[in-house]
Amino acid sequence: MGTPKPLRGKVPVSIITIIICALAFVALLYTERISSFSSSNILKIKPCAKKNPAKKSITDNRNTGSGALNYAADDRFEFDPEECSLVHGKWVFNRTIKPLYSDRTCPYLDRQVSCVKNGREDSDYRHWEWQPDDCMLPRFDPKVALRRIEGKRLMFVGDSLQRGQWQSFVCLVESVIPEGQKSMKRGRLHTVFKAKEYNATIEFYWAPFLVESNSDLHIVADPKKRILKVDSIENHAKNWMGVDILVFNTYVWWMSGLRIKSLWGSFANGEEGYEELDAPVSYNIGLKTWANWVDSNVNPNNTRVFFTTMSPTHQRSADWGNDKGIKCFNETKPILKKRHWGTGSDKRLMSVVAGVVGRMKVPVTLINITQLSEYRIDAHASIYTELGGKLLTDEEKEDPLHYADCIHWCLPGVPDTWNQILYAHLL
Ligand SMILES: *[C@@H]1O[C@H](CO)[C@@H](O)[C@H](O)[C@H]1NC(C)=O
Ligand SMILES: *[C@@H]1O[C@H](CO)[C@@H](O)[C@H](O)[C@H]1NC(C)=O
Ligand SMILES: *[C@@H]1O[C@H](CO)[C@@H](O)[C@H](O)[C@H]1NC(C)=O
Ligand SMILES: *[C@@H]1O[C@H](CO)[C@@H](O)[C@H](O)[C@H]1NC(C)=O
Ligand SMILES: *[C@@H]1O[C@H](CO)[C@@H](O)[C@H](O)[C@H]1NC(C)=O
Repeated sequence: MGTPKPLRGKVPVSIITIIICALAFVALLYTERISSFSSSNILKIKPCAKKNPAKKSITDNRNTGSGALNYAADDRFEFDPEECSLVHGKWVFNRTIKPLYSDRTCPYLDRQVSCVKNGREDSDYRHWEWQPDDCMLPRFDPKVALRRIEGKRLMFVGDSLQRGQWQSFVCLVESVIPEGQKSMKRGRLHTVFKAKEYNATIEFYWAPFLVESNSDLHIVADPKKRILKVDSIENHAKNWMGVDILVFNTYVWWMSGLRIKSLWGSFANGEEGYEELDAPVSYNIGLKTWANWVDSNVNPNNTRVFFTTMSPTHQRSADWGNDKGIKCFNETKPILKKRHWGTGSDKRLMSVVAGVVGRMKVPVTLINITQLSEYRIDAHASIYTELGGKLLTDEEKEDPLHYADCIHWCLPGVPDTWNQILYAHLL
């Protein structure tokens, strides 16, 4: 663990330490997952010391909302992107709602997110539906979705959370495509699912920072050794040319808790010419590089651009008033308190996104998933996941403090709702 520069602000230092420690761990965890491709580095996870869990200053705000199970007369109108914000709403439990796929029926899911296969037994987390306050979010209809992308390329670009959203989309539609009419071609950076009869592709392109870094193809396990070329994007972006629907994200990789080694200009000095910048500063430069690329290369008459906002992490159970909890481990219900916002979603980076996207020439539709996902402490992969290509052992499962994954989401699960929002915008 390094000695990261303390963040400014009123948050007590001990909390910061916990967060940083958790995030640094997360970064490693992260890395490990992806590197299962290259499998060159065996990581040692260095556990952070368990910190004093109780924080008196955090009020118990758990499950105090009256919301989710109250039904008023439903006078909400059909979704219209101009009229209705999907950001504010509530999760409603409805056991008759069944996901369109399972981790046994969809052959394209990574083991990382296949929670049921990995032993998760509680199932309530699969039966919650997001209801925006002002309108009705249309149900995802796979055939309609396929018709909307007929003759087109749909590409998700970003990190492993984006990969989850991509897998969710593939699984949501694949069951209506007959055998022999679909194919999956996997590459290290670029993976393509093809629906032949629709002449459509649903693709994923790995670029965890969107901009280039020394940790794209070969993951650098130690966040301190990662260097970002915050003004370079072409090597990735040339693969995005001519795509009809682009869906981007980037967030969690910027959250190592360390200052970001950022390099720009010519690289005459080699990689040593970097400067260490605070995450929001570096993120701002990186995102502007992306925005410039989009503005100069995307013709909005032909291409639609989406940006998925940050996916919250749930590393600190005191955020939702569960002082005795261990991260998101063992949580089986969403937070019902309206507007709950935890320490796993950095508002500074959110405002960078709002600022950069707001000034772009090409219109970018935000899929603002942060608030709705913030509530879903129950839906992470937790201990029902893998590490370095292997299922967690029973011993590791006994040690959720170090092994529970409270970043990624089980599938089926919350990313299906992100795609329901994307779908609503494609109708
Ligand atoms: C639950 O979902 C079913 C199927 O979509 C729907 O008919 C029913 O009205 C829902 N129940 C509630 C309480 O919303
Ligand atoms: C299939 O879609 C691609 C674009 O994704 C297009 O270039 C090609 O012409 C289409 N082919 C047919 C037969 O429609
Ligand atoms: C987009 O379409 C409009 C209307 O057809 C046209 O005026 C405009 O020049 C087009 N923009 C680009 C970048 O091609
Ligand atoms: C997890 O939850 C179950 C059921 O609520 C409970 O029996 C068990 O003790 C909990 N485990 C831990 C480690 O908190
Ligand atoms: C997303 O929604 C939240 C409210 O939940 C808001 O604070 C934030 O500014 C929105 N993000 C962007 C980039 O507009």
